[in-house]
Amino acid sequence: MKNSSSILILVHFLCFSLITNLSLGGDTISVNESVSSGQTIISSGGNFELGFFRPGDSRSYYIGIWYKKLYPQAVVWVANRDKPLDSADANLIISQGNLVLLDRLQNSIWSALTENINPNISVAAVLRDDGNFILSDVSKASMPLLLWQSFDHPTHTFLPGAKIGYDKRTQRKQVLVSWKNSSDPAPGMYSLEMDPKNAQYVIKWNRTTEYWASGSWDGQRFGLVPEMSLNYIYNYSYIDNENESYFTYSLYNSTITSRLIMDVSGQIKQLSWLDGSIDWNLFWTQPRESCQVYAICGAFGVCDEANATCNCLSGFKQRSDAEWNSNDYSSGCVTDEKVQCDAITEDKDSLWITSIVRVPASHNTNITVGTASQCRSACFNDCSCTAYTYDGSGTCSIWTGDLFNLEQLSTTESKRTIFVKRGSPEAQTKAKKSMKLKAILSSISVLMFLLIGSISYIYYKRRIAKRADRSKGIQGAHKSHWHKAEGEAKVLMNENSDEAIDVPYFHLETILEATDNFSNANKLGQGGFGPVYKGIFPGEKEIAVKTLSSQSGQGIDEFKNEVTLIAKLQHRNLVRLLGYCINATEQILLYEYMPNKSLDTFIFDGTLCQLLDWKKRYDIILGIARGLSYLHHDSRLRIIHRDLKTSNILLDEEMNPKISDFGLARIVEGKVTEANTKKVVGTYGYMSPEYALDGLFSIKSDVFSFGVVVLEIISGRRNTGFYQSEEALNLLGYAWKLWTEKTEIQLIEKSLLESCNKSEALKCINIALLCVQEDPNHRPNMSDVILMLGGEGTNLPTPNRPAFVIRTHASSTSSSSSDKKYIVSNNQVTITVEEGR
Ligand SMILES: *[C@@H]1O[C@H](CO)[C@@H](O)[C@H](O)[C@H]1NC(C)=O
Ligand SMILES: *[C@@H]1O[C@H](CO)[C@@H](O)[C@H](O)[C@H]1NC(C)=O
Ligand SMILES: *[C@@H]1O[C@H](CO)[C@@H](O)[C@H](O)[C@H]1NC(C)=O
Ligand SMILES: *[C@@H]1O[C@H](CO)[C@@H](O)[C@H](O)[C@H]1NC(C)=O
Ligand SMILES: *[C@@H]1O[C@H](CO)[C@@H](O)[C@H](O)[C@H]1NC(C)=O
Ligand SMILES: *[C@@H]1O[C@H](CO)[C@@H](O)[C@H](O)[C@H]1NC(C)=O
Ligand SMILES: *[C@@H]1O[C@H](CO)[C@@H](O)[C@H](O)[C@H]1NC(C)=O
Ligand SMILES: *[C@@H]1O[C@H](CO)[C@@H](O)[C@H](O)[C@H]1NC(C)=O
Ligand SMILES: *[C@@H]1O[C@H](CO)[C@@H](O)[C@H](O)[C@H]1NC(C)=O
Repeated sequence: MKNSSSILILVHFLCFSLITNLSLGGDTISVNESVSSGQTIISSGGNFELGFFRPGDSRSYYIGIWYKKLYPQAVVWVANRDKPLDSADANLIISQGNLVLLDRLQNSIWSALTENINPNISVAAVLRDDGNFILSDVSKASMPLLLWQSFDHPTHTFLPGAKIGYDKRTQRKQVLVSWKNSSDPAPGMYSLEMDPKNAQYVIKWNRTTEYWASGSWDGQRFGLVPEMSLNYIYNYSYIDNENESYFTYSLYNSTITSRLIMDVSGQIKQLSWLDGSIDWNLFWTQPRESCQVYAICGAFGVCDEANATCNCLSGFKQRSDAEWNSNDYSSGCVTDEKVQCDAITEDKDSLWITSIVRVPASHNTNITVGTASQCRSACFNDCSCTAYTYDGSGTCSIWTGDLFNLEQLSTTESKRTIFVKRGSPEAQTKAKKSMKLKAILSSISVLMFLLIGSISYIYYKRRIAKRADRSKGIQGAHKSHWHKAEGEAKVLMNENSDEAIDVPYFHLETILEATDNFSNANKLGQGGFGPVYKGIFPGEKEIAVKTLSSQSGQGIDEFKNEVTLIAKLQHRNLVRLLGYCINATEQILLYEYMPNKSLDTFIFDGTLCQLLDWKKRYDIILGIARGLSYLHHDSRLRIIHRDLKTSNILLDEEMNPKISDFGLARIVEGKVTEANTKKVVGTYGYMSPEYALDGLFSIKSDVFSFGVVVLEIISGRRNTGFYQSEEALNLLGYAWKLWTEKTEIQLIEKSLLESCNKSEALKCINIALLCVQEDPNHRPNMSDVILMLGGEGTNLPTPNRPAFVIRTHASSTSSSSSDKKYIVSNNQVTITVEEGR
């Protein structure tokens, strides 16, 4: 293990030094010095590096600044973002008192100052360790005079210490503008600016249309997004004086690497690189839903809230398949259909595309008319009208030009029926009145074409399916499945691609054979949704087979859809889904097999628990936090686990924790995301009060369960079925009692005390108590938890009283509603409670 990893590091180092630049060995460019391709300068503390780079798969060269120590490369600033160099033969030099980028023909591509100042003065450019690149007049060594700094000209990254705001003297703004795409740093459509009137951040589209605002800064936090200024992580300030007005921030713990970016997705993201991470952790993002980003799906595109993907309105097609395939939808949808303004009778339903969506708020005019058909006429007779809605009370809203921001909702709330005129605006204006017949003919031919197209498509699909079926003999099938599964996992890990992957399908016969007809001898346990078996598949591969015993309320297609989504979730602290099987009665999921069973078999067992010393337990807590954080924040889907508990944490050979059963709630429940649910799926003792009592679940319900798991890991006792003699306290109550008495050290399991790092354990208890607070809004989210676990633990917030604290035997003194359902709970069985409302 050690050997292979050091070889890896060596290989990595070799490759890295081959492809990257050689350092000039300083942090400064002085008069007549230059940085040419292949050379870099490095900040004095070694945090940042400046030089030439090529982003993504681009063929162009740019001068930029990136984190020296972090890989993959994260560029924080680009000099010539909209003037790419087509060759590496270029120089960044100090000349004539200016910092200039010259291409191979000695043309100036970019310069720091708009005009050269006195060519006689001595200037120098220094890359500082906070990422700021500064050009100053150093003629008087004792008093260098600032001429220019990159922090005043940010590109898409806001580093701690930099500013977002504006200079009152020059009216120049510091604005973050997104990259065009991951390979092109040219200014994209989205920008983050400060709105000085209200002391808030705003995000704009095309520098004009504002689609998000942070709410005013009140000295502590931003009105609408409190998480932006987590007060124990970021020190935010708003400076407003005679010269300038801006936001800036710093980190209390300066060893943490953090940056805020205006992403190509149109969202701002606070990313942090925590100790021991292998990639950036997303702390928060705004707007939270990508469908809330202006024009995210382009013209005539519809954003699907459920999985944050774009589709075209029916009758329209993607303008650029290539761009859509690389998840850039901004070009939107087009149609070839042409429609004349008054050619055909307006009532023909075929003239209108009906869609039930959240309608865009902007670009409309309201007119008052009497009836729906008058509204339709109004739109019909106005050549520039693209779409209308009629709200029943006489208000007729009309859209002209391209239609942006249609949103497909999973709830019925705020849905409206919008009528979109068939034919694109361009096509409409081009159409001539006399071309009536042509229009009809062309729409008929389009229809014919579509008809023929879909028939041949169906035929083609059938043939493919048949061929696949034929080649899927039971023998030999598994092998290819294995290769496929592993190959795909690699692709995912390497490229983090969002492309759909097919999870291999396993035949029921194969599974029956592997599990010896689901024999009792092969039964590993009884999960919340059905029994789990061990299966030995060809090649001695061991797989865990989870049968869902037809509990799923879903049809075959939805089931497959969910499985495909779940299979995309790949993280070292999540159990990997390897395949599925479905027939009339069974829905089966195949997972990687974990030889060491689950966490509860260790921590609650008098002898086995000694196998887990403090260090191991701490690593397990961290691993669970990372896995859960990935589910909540980093995966595209935002999975709420809903049944996190120690028996759902499996351990691999090296006792690394892996969360299992994530996404099952989606399969059982269907597409409900963050909302009320009719059924409560979860386990007593781990369920948050809002979920258990009101069926309200959110990522904060998982945070609650996490807190319970941490307390159980530390104390070696179950939350349920744990009683102190006089008062019936559960583990949470007990932990809280000790906390208030400042004796929480007693919570730590006796066998652990020896190996235990006391301050770490106390920190964990503090964090766990923060997680189980009654008010979900007070609980931290999982990224905060990871950060707190990584920190010193000295300035953690003080928790409020947890939910479900005291249950005295007979007379409850508390009138809290949270008492009523928690009288009897003595085991670990997962339950499904019909919600009584
Ligand atoms: C920089 O180059 C110019 C012209 O090549 C020369 O006159 C000047 O002395 C040089 N300055 C320094 C500090 O070397
Ligand atoms: C630069 O220095 C030269 C001689 O040292 C002088 O002739 C020239 O006027 C100076 N230029 C400026 C802009 O001060
Ligand atoms: C990025 O945009 C450029 C045009 O601005 C395009 O040529 C390139 O293919 C795009 N790259 C990706 C990865 O989308
Ligand atoms: C963006 O705004 C400019 C004017 O500021 C306008 O000319 C351009 O058409 C706009 N782009 C889009 C896609 O609407
Ligand atoms: C927070 O930032 C302000 C302004 O940048 C600074 O004056 C203050 O000392 C910082 N506070 C802490 C605790 O770092
Ligand atoms: C504003 O700028 C002036 C001149 O540049 C300077 O003297 C003054 O100290 C500045 N004020 C503040 C608050 O920085
Ligand atoms: C997203 O969901 C819609 C239905 O809600 C479905 O048609 C579409 O295929 C899904 N897209 C992806 C990428 O899963
Ligand atoms: C049109 O009416 C809707 C409510 O029906 C309102 O939200 C919207 O702001 C109005 N738009 C204009 C341009 O007046
Ligand atoms: C700052 O973070 C590092 C790890 O990122 C940690 O080792 C250190 O203890 C933290 N310092 C404080 C004061 O929390």
